[in-house]
Amino acid sequence: MNQDELKAQDAQNALKALVGRAALDVVVPGTVVGVGTGSTVNCFIDALGTIKDRIAGAVSSSVASTQRLQALGIRVLDANEVERIPVYIDGADEIDHRGHMVKGGGAALTREKIVADLAERFVCIADQSKLVDVMGRFPLPVEVIPMAVAQVARRFAAAYGGVATVRAGVTTDNGNLILDVRGLQISDPLAMETEVNQWPGVVTVGIFARHRARLCLLGTPTGVQRLS
Ligand code: 5RP
Repeated sequence: MNQDELKAQDAQNALKALVGRAALDVVVPGTVVGVGTGSTVNCFIDALGTIKDRIAGAVSSSVASTQRLQALGIRVLDANEVERIPVYIDGADEIDHRGHMVKGGGAALTREKIVADLAERFVCIADQSKLVDVMGRFPLPVEVIPMAVAQVARRFAAAYGGVATVRAGVTTDNGNLILDVRGLQISDPLAMETEVNQWPGVVTVGIFARHRARLCLLGTPTGVQRLS
C-alpha cells in the first residue's frame, strides 16, 4: 500500500469508529442487542463494552463477533433464546438510498439475516463509501450448499448475466460456500432477493431488501449523517 492508500484507509477507519460509537445512541437500555459482523461492527462492539452493564446481553451473527463480545464480558445469548429484540446493528458492503443493502463481505450473511429477522429495527452503520445509487458494484455474496454451486452460478449467468465465482478458502460458520457474483445491476433488490432465494441450494442471498435498514448512521468527514 502506498502513502495515499494508507491515508485513505486511516480516514475510513476513523469513520467506522465514529459510527460505531454513534450506534450506542440507538441501543435500548435493559434489552438484548442484535450484533452484526465486520470491521465497522467491531468498533461498535468495542463501544458496547463501555455500557455492558446497561444491556441484558447480545445476540451475535458470527463466531467472530461472539468471541469479541465475550472477550469484553458481554453475555451472548443463543438466537433461539430470544423472541424479539428492539434493534439489530450491522454494517453493509453497499447501501442504497432506500436502505436496501448488499451484505456478506465477511461471509456471515445467513446468521446476519436470522438475527435481523428477530429485530424490530435494522440500524446500519457504515462509512460514506458504502452509499450507492444502484447496488451491484460490490460482488454479491451468496451462501450456497456445496453441491449446488455450479448450478447456482449457471442460473446467475442465465437470469442476470452475472459471473459467479467461489470465494477461495472460505467455508461459512454453517459449513457452506460463498459465491461472489460480479456484473450485476441490482435495480430491483426485492425482486432479485425473492427470485434467488427460490433457487435450490441457495441458503441466503446477500441482498437485504426484506430486511432493509430503517436507519443508516453514515460516517462522513463532517460527522454522522442519519438516513431513514
Ligand atoms: C459481513 C458483512 C459486513 O457487515 C460487511 O461486509 C461490511 O463489513 P465492514 O464493516 O468490515 O466493511 O456483511 O458478512
